[in-house]
Amino acid sequence: MACTDNAMRDLFLLVLFCIVHGEKEESKGIDAKASRPGGSFDITKLGASGNGKTDNTKDVQEACASACGGTGKQTILIPKGDFLVGQLNFTCPCKGDVTIQVDGNLLATMDLSQYKEHGKWIEILRVDNLVITGKGNLDGQGPAVWSKNSCTKKYDCKILPNSLVMYFVNNGEVSGVTLLNSKFFHMNM
Ligand SMILES: *[C@@H]1O[C@H](CO)[C@@H](O)[C@H](O)[C@H]1NC(C)=O
Repeated sequence: MACTDNAMRDLFLLVLFCIVHGEKEESKGIDAKASRPGGSFDITKLGASGNGKTDNTKDVQEACASACGGTGKQTILIPKGDFLVGQLNFTCPCKGDVTIQVDGNLLATMDLSQYKEHGKWIEILRVDNLVITGKGNLDGQGPAVWSKNSCTKKYDCKILPNSLVMYFVNNGEVSGVTLLNSKFFHMNM
C-alpha cells in the first residue's frame, strides 16, 4: 500500500470502489429513488451487464451519482457477476451515507487510454461515512498490461493506475472485499 502524506491526513481506512460526478442528478425512472430518503441502486437495473466484456462505466457512475444525491442510507449494489469498468470517480460531498455492497467483481479495463487521469482506477474523494463491504473482488487485471508500461526503462512514462485511491474520506469502513491483480498499487490514501 502506498501512502502519501497529504492523504493520510483525514482518513481512516479502506477499501473500495466507485464513482461519480459530484453533482446530483435530477432523476428519472428508476433513479427517482435518489431524491427520497434512503435508496438502493443496483447497477444491473441501470443497465450494467456482468458478462465481463461490456463496458459498464456509465452505469456505475450513474449509480454513484444517484446514491450521492440522496439523503439517508444509500446503497450501491454490485450484484454477482463480472463487471468491466473504466476509470471511476466518486467525488462528493454526498448528502447521505453511502454503502457500496460488492457482491460481484469489478474488473478494470485493460485499455490504458481510458485512464484519463494517470495513476488511478477508482478514485474516491471527500465521501464521509463510507462503507465498502461484500465478498467481491476489485480486480485490476494488471498482468495483461504490465508489459505495456515503460516505467522500468525510463522516467518519462505514464504510471499505471493504482486500484483504489481515497482522499479526504472520514469515518470509512472497508471489509470483506478483495483487491486483486492491481496494475500498480492496490491502494493509495
Ligand atoms: C474526479 O473528480 C474530481 C472533481 O471533479 C477531480 O478533481 C478529480 O481529478 C477526478 N478524478 C478522476 C480520476 O477523474
